[in-house]
Amino acid sequence: MPVLAKVTTMVKAIIVEQSEDRNVTAGVQEIDETRLPDDGEVDIAVEYSTINYKDGLCLNGLAGLVRSFPHVPGVDFAGEVLSSRDDRFKAGDKVIMSGFRSGENRWGGYATRANGRADWLVPVPDGMTTRETQALGTAGFTAMQSILRLEENGMTPEGGEVLVTGAGGGVGSIATVLLARRGYQVAAVTGRAEIADYLTGLGASRIVGRDEMLDDPGKPMESSTWGGCIDCAGGQILARALKQMKSGAAIASLGNAAGSSMEASIVPFLLRGVSILGIDSVPVPVAKRKEIWAALAAEMPRDVLESLTEEIGLADVIPYGQKILDGKVRGRIVVDVNR
Ligand SMILES: NC(=O)c1ccc[n+]([C@@H]2O[C@H](COP(=O)([O-])OP(=O)(O)OC[C@H]3O[C@@H](n4cnc5c(N)ncnc54)[C@H](OP(=O)(O)O)[C@@H]3O)[C@@H](O)[C@H]2O)c1
Repeated sequence: MPVLAKVTTMVKAIIVEQSEDRNVTAGVQEIDETRLPDDGEVDIAVEYSTINYKDGLCLNGLAGLVRSFPHVPGVDFAGEVLSSRDDRFKAGDKVIMSGFRSGENRWGGYATRANGRADWLVPVPDGMTTRETQALGTAGFTAMQSILRLEENGMTPEGGEVLVTGAGGGVGSIATVLLARRGYQVAAVTGRAEIADYLTGLGASRIVGRDEMLDDPGKPMESSTWGGCIDCAGGQILARALKQMKSGAAIASLGNAAGSSMEASIVPFLLRGVSILGIDSVPVPVAKRKEIWAALAAEMPRDVLESLTEEIGLADVIPYGQKILDGKVRGRIVVDVNR
């Protein structure tokens, strides 16, 4: 009897490698499927992924996020289950993977195949496509997570305008749309005057220049203006917003595009009861993830989502990883990993 060789599937993936002199490079390679991690219960044919700021860091070996090479980045992905060793999933199910440091300390979604843990996967909500989940991605997820957290803290449309910083980016753009749909007046902070029409098209009722936010008169408090704030910027922009919050209002602090530290007055905490709520999308348990995805499925208008989304192929991820680090991406990028 002739011995038949076992046929293995080849997987197309972006592999990030580190040379002996610690130089990090990324490229598209065809690899044997046996190289994929197999410590999860679910094997997935990836359909779409996306690019987050964190992916730009992982693609370039920055901020110490990736510790082990070779590595496949891609914090977010969605696709179809090929096989599952866990009863919660079966072949043919459409699933979303995000958070839990997938794509950072475990191989992620920039590949045509991936392996996931059943405890981390969320079914694609009814009425949503895998492509739409990735057009939203962690950015959309974090925008909705922030809004829900602020509303739990008492934010209402009647409580005053909501400031969104880094409004032209992924989280900021989607937060602007979702807040406007919930009846909020949105003041969008941007460093790019040329995207003002784009932001008003998403629902912003006023545009605030980034320079205006940074031109701080230095008082411990200013006139109380914002009923809430979704802060993608951090740094001195967060310190300035703090002084302008209304009594009892809160800031959802989720990003550090402008910096990770700030010099700030604590007077707004003492005299206005202002709060800063920390937002971390990474460890959110699956039950809460399902709630957030259900809210996104119900509220995000698909035509608006499409209008703020650009689609690219797998090889394009590498230049776009640099573009997002340079603050040159507007809205959201969806990656067709099979293109
Ligand atoms: N906590 C979490 O779980 C979580 C989840 C997702 C993202 N994040 C973080 O949230 C931030 C936003 O994420 P994203 O996906 O929306 O990123 P993004 O698409 O790159 O958008 C960031 C936006 O911030 C603004 N910006 C850039 N450089 C700036 C600077 N020096 N000063 C002030 N504003 C600046 C730009 O908007 P304009 O051009 O309009 O000013 C840019 O479009 C990032 O820091 C990201 O790492 C955190």
